Amino acid sequence: MFPNGFVWGAASSAYQIEGAARADGRGESVWDVFCRTPGAVHGGHTGEVACDHHGRMGDDVALMKSLGIPHYRFSIAWPRVMPDGVGRINEKGLGFYDRLVDELLRAGITPWVTLFHWDYPQALHRRGGWQNPESPQWFADYTRVIVDRLSDRVTRWMTINEPQIFLGQGHLLGTQAPGLKLSVGEFLRAGHHALLAHGMSAQVIRAHAKKPPIVGWAPCGRVDYPVSESPADIDAARTRMFDVYARDAWNNSWWADPVVLGRYPESGIKTFGAEMPKFPDRDMQTIRQPLDFYGVNIYSGTAYRAGASGEPVEVPHPVGGPQTAFRWPITPESLYWGPRFLHERYGLPIIITENGMANLDFVSGDGAVHDPQRIEYTRTYLRQLSRAAREGRATGYFHWSILDNFEWAEGYSMRFGLVHVDYATQKRTLKDSAKWYSKVIASNGAEVSN
Ligand code: FCB
Repeated sequence: MFPNGFVWGAASSAYQIEGAARADGRGESVWDVFCRTPGAVHGGHTGEVACDHHGRMGDDVALMKSLGIPHYRFSIAWPRVMPDGVGRINEKGLGFYDRLVDELLRAGITPWVTLFHWDYPQALHRRGGWQNPESPQWFADYTRVIVDRLSDRVTRWMTINEPQIFLGQGHLLGTQAPGLKLSVGEFLRAGHHALLAHGMSAQVIRAHAKKPPIVGWAPCGRVDYPVSESPADIDAARTRMFDVYARDAWNNSWWADPVVLGRYPESGIKTFGAEMPKFPDRDMQTIRQPLDFYGVNIYSGTAYRAGASGEPVEVPHPVGGPQTAFRWPITPESLYWGPRFLHERYGLPIIITENGMANLDFVSGDGAVHDPQRIEYTRTYLRQLSRAAREGRATGYFHWSILDNFEWAEGYSMRFGLVHVDYATQKRTLKDSAKWYSKVIASNGAEVSN
């Protein structure tokens, strides 16, 4: 069972569902450009049309209402609101989110706004993007525009989504927009600017929100969990989870220690060594802002045990063990240990801002979409999360995603939705998992024990 007041929701992001890439004066984002790069995205797919959520927003909200979804996490497309990234406000673009918020509230659904979910304005990218020291101020100015317009109705805010991915994949590996392969030092500098942007954005929200705001962020959770509950295995997994041992972005503490504790982690400073740029000490005062919750996106994890001298030793996922269409191992334990370890270290209520699975869903002859794998995945993960919730560590869960959508470099080949989308007709079909999740919500999670 879950405690009363547990937050149940579903999530999406702008570029993945909206489409209408050229409508109403929207500016280009780095993803529009990346999608046109030959070979960058599976099948040459783009977000031009996506789920046409921009045109079907009213119906999509009605669908969520019919499922009894009480909370909805979505993101705002910065270049839709500010086509040049700074300066001029595109009233029609901003109006879309105005209407979305009104529609949600009319349906009794609480909006949770993510300010940045990767669709960075191309105009600002041309000026150096996250590498430009002015970029935190650009993000703060954009935040101000959104807060001024929506904070009379919106009280739940997330600054940035997954710095690990838009910096790691986008700026170091080059596998996602904007497709840069920076040096480690340049990548760390861009990351530092993104952290400053988070801090300045949080300050703007607190200073200007018209209603008391609830502020968080939504990084990835790379979860390392113990293979048993022996204290030695738990310690080994915890150590591994917060260690920065590779010269890349795929870790927790490089991002979260500055944001919550006000310093870069020692292990990372050691690992990045001479490549680590010098940053002014005062930056940490900006990066570290009081937060009301720690949002985290968790899909999978890796098991660890303690070796002979207590060191973490990976326990490989069983050969042929359960996995998703993305080939991500199915590891329900990550939804207990992830929140537990993050809560222990950072002391903030944990909200799962994304969790779900890619599955090879299709419409059956009976007109339904049968996705028992997704139901089982979610049931087993939620059982684990309920333990973290009962321990007072986790306070909410957003399923990724409400709709099948544009899965970044994988294009439309990965279906994560509770609702199936036929991209040729834009027909929405509730999957079995949507009906099941509706019961989970209505029973405050009692359904997951069945
Ligand atoms: C996360 C992203 C989200 C979605 C899921 C599957 O990394 O935040 O947009 O693509 O993965």
